[in-house]
Amino acid sequence: MRAVLEQLESRREEARLGGGLRRIEAQHAKGKLTARERLEVLLDEGSFEEFDMYVTHRAVDFGMANQKVAGDGVVTGWGTINGRLVYVFSQDFTVLGGSLSETHAQKICKIMDMALRNGAPVIGLNDSGGARIQEGVASLAGYADVFKRNVEASGVVPQISVIMGPCAGGAVYSPAMTDFIFMVRDTSYMFVTGPDVVKTVTNEVVSAEELGGARTHTQKSSVADGAFDNDVEALEEIRRLFDFLPLNNRDKPPVRPFHDDPSRLEMRLDTLVPDSSTRPYDMKELILAVADEGDFFEVGEAFARNLVTGFIRIEGQTVGVVANQPLVLAGCLDIDSSRKGARFVRFCDAFSIPILTLVDVPGFLPGTGQEYGGVIKHGAKLLFAYSQATVPMVTLITRKAYGGAYDVMASKHIGADVNYAWPTAEIAVMGAKGAAEILHRAELGDAAKIAERARDYEARFANPFIAAERGFIDEVILPHTSRKRIARAFAALRRKTVETRWRKHDTVPL
Ligand code: HXC
Repeated sequence: MRAVLEQLESRREEARLGGGLRRIEAQHAKGKLTARERLEVLLDEGSFEEFDMYVTHRAVDFGMANQKVAGDGVVTGWGTINGRLVYVFSQDFTVLGGSLSETHAQKICKIMDMALRNGAPVIGLNDSGGARIQEGVASLAGYADVFKRNVEASGVVPQISVIMGPCAGGAVYSPAMTDFIFMVRDTSYMFVTGPDVVKTVTNEVVSAEELGGARTHTQKSSVADGAFDNDVEALEEIRRLFDFLPLNNRDKPPVRPFHDDPSRLEMRLDTLVPDSSTRPYDMKELILAVADEGDFFEVGEAFARNLVTGFIRIEGQTVGVVANQPLVLAGCLDIDSSRKGARFVRFCDAFSIPILTLVDVPGFLPGTGQEYGGVIKHGAKLLFAYSQATVPMVTLITRKAYGGAYDVMASKHIGADVNYAWPTAEIAVMGAKGAAEILHRAELGDAAKIAERARDYEARFANPFIAAERGFIDEVILPHTSRKRIARAFAALRRKTVETRWRKHDTVPL
C-alpha cells in the first residue's frame, strides 16, 4: 500500500511541476506567478479541488509524442471565494506556452459544464499562446467548444476573465465573450494577431505593449474593464468583485452584514452642485456618499470617463451604479459612454442587480465624429438596455437632464421605478441659450434680447418642478437625504416582478 501511495504522491509532484523548474523560474523572473500559485491567491485557503491533473494530450505529430506533461497546460477545478462556490481554470504558460490543445480545451469545457449545471460562476486565468500549433484543427475545434459554452453560460452564470500573460489568437476570443476582462499591467497582452504578423501584413511596426497591453485595452479599445499592477493585486480585486455578484441568474446577489446607517445624512451634498450650471463637480463624491462604507468597485474606469459604472452596496445589497460624470466632456453621452453603459446595464439586469442612475447630462455629444461613428445606433444601445431592464431602478437627477439623454438615463418613461431630483435639477429639451436661438431666430442679431429670452426659458424649465407636476419626477429631495431616500426606495422595490413577453430574442441595435 505504501508503494501505491508513494506512486500517487510522485505523480502529483510531477504534475505540479508543470513545464519544469527552469520555466517556473522564467515565469517568476517576469514577475508572474505560476498557474497554481495564482489559484492559491484567488481561492479561499485550502478550498481548491483539482480535476484532471493527469490528463495529457494525444498528439503525435512534430515530435509531440514525447512532449507530454501531466495536466496539459491548464489547471482546472473548483473552490470557494469567501465561502461561495466558483469554478476555475488557470492556464500554465510553462507548458507549451499555455497553448490550447484538444485535451486542454476538454478540461476547460468540463468545468464550464459543471458550473452551468451547478449554477456557479466561472473564472478563467488566461496565460496562453493560443491554439497549439502542433495540433492544427483539433485545437481550433477545442476553442470552438469553449466559445460555444461561453455563449451558453452568458446571462446564466457570471464569467470573469483575468488576462495574466500574452494571450493571442483564440485565447482572446473566449475572454471576449465573458462578462468582465481584467488585465495585469506590463505582463499581459491581448491581440488577435501579434506584432510580427501585423508587420508582415500591414507593414506597421508596433510593440506588444502598444498593440495589446493593458493601457491599450482599458483606455482605447475598451476590451478590458480594468487593469492592476501585479498578479496578486489583480486576484485580490477579483475576489472583491466576486463578492458583489450572485452565483447565477436565479440567485440573488449576496447580502453583506453592514454597519453603515442607511439613514446617514450627508450635509456636504447640499453644496456639491456649484452655483454656476456650467461648472463641473465630481459625481464620484455622490456615489461614495450613497454607498455603504464608501465602498465602490468601478468597472471600466479608464474608458469613456464621462460615464461612471460600477458596484456599491446599500443596506448590504449590491447595486449597480451608472452615473454621468460632469468632470469629463461635461458628462455628455457619446458613442463610447453609451456602449459602456449599455453593457453594464445589461449585465446588472441579467443578474438581478438593482440599478441606481445618477443624472447630470447636457445631452448627446454633437459632431461629425459622433454621427459618422454611428452615435445613433450606439446611443440606442443604452436606451434599449434601460428600456428592457426589469430589475429595480432608482434614478436621481442632480442637475442637467437635457433632451434625448433625459429619456435615456433611466427616465420614468422607459421603466425606472422611483425618480428623484435635487432642487438644482434642470429638465428641458435643450440648454436655455440654444432654445432661445431656435425659438426666436428673428432676434438672433440682438444679443440682449436673446439673453432675455434665454433667461425666460431658464426660469420656466431649468428646475425639476415641471417634470414633478406631471409625475415624471416622484419627489424633489434634499441632497443631504439622498442615501436615506435611495436606500428606502430600493428597500421598497425588493419584491418587484415584471412579466416579460415571449420572444426568441430581441434585435438589439449592435
Ligand atoms: C504551441 C507554443 C505556442 C503555441 C507558444 N508556445 N505559443 N507552443 N503552440 N501557440 C511555446 C513556445 O514554443 C515555447 O516553448 C513556449 O511556449 C514559450 O513561448 P516563447 O515564444 O518562448 O515565449 P514568449 O517569448 O514569452 O512569447 C509568447 C508568445 C509567443 C507571444 C505567446 O510564443 C507567440 O507569439 N506564440 C504564438 C502565438 C500565436 O500565433 N498563436 C496561434 C494563434 S491562432 P518552449 O519549449 O521553448 O518553452 C489561434 C487560432 C484560434 O489561436 C482562432 C479562433 C478564433
